[in-house]
Amino acid sequence: MERTFIMVKPDGVERRLAGEIIRRFETRGFNLVGLKLVQPDRALAEEHYAVHRERPFFGELVDFITSGPVVAMVWEANEAIKLGRSMIGALKPWEGVPGTIRGDYTTEVQTNLVHGSDAPETAEAEIALWFKPTELL
Ligand code: RTP
Ligand code: MG
Repeated sequence: MERTFIMVKPDGVERRLAGEIIRRFETRGFNLVGLKLVQPDRALAEEHYAVHRERPFFGELVDFITSGPVVAMVWEANEAIKLGRSMIGALKPWEGVPGTIRGDYTTEVQTNLVHGSDAPETAEAEIALWFKPTELL
């Protein structure tokens, strides 16, 4: 079994889509091992997206992620990281397909509802960044 960090971004909470996103992971068959509502501060957002620190959109991205509460989750499944990314869909909504979360509910690159870890090393780092060991099953 593999664990992945999934986060409903502020636009997802604002649009009342947190339940729909959780439902998709539940009904796909993932096990929920951690969940909490968090208001991220800039330090947490900057650390989470540290890989993008030099990109021109970094400041805007941190503004967006700190603009409201997010739902931070850890889900477990066989190949959870790849499976989660495939359920989330492409970064550019116009390159994605209906049936994915972004493909069904988004039109923009930044306000794209949900984050999912992209590799085993990032999953491990993100889970440790957002959760204390005692907050996980
Ligand atoms: P995420 O990390 O949030 O799951 O998204 P991702 O892997 O699909 O995309 P990534 O390349 O890691 O980008 C992280 C987030 O930065 C924003 N972004 N804006 N303006 C732009 O060109 C641009 N590119 C990326 C998006 O919010 C993206 O989810
Ligand atoms: Mg990413």
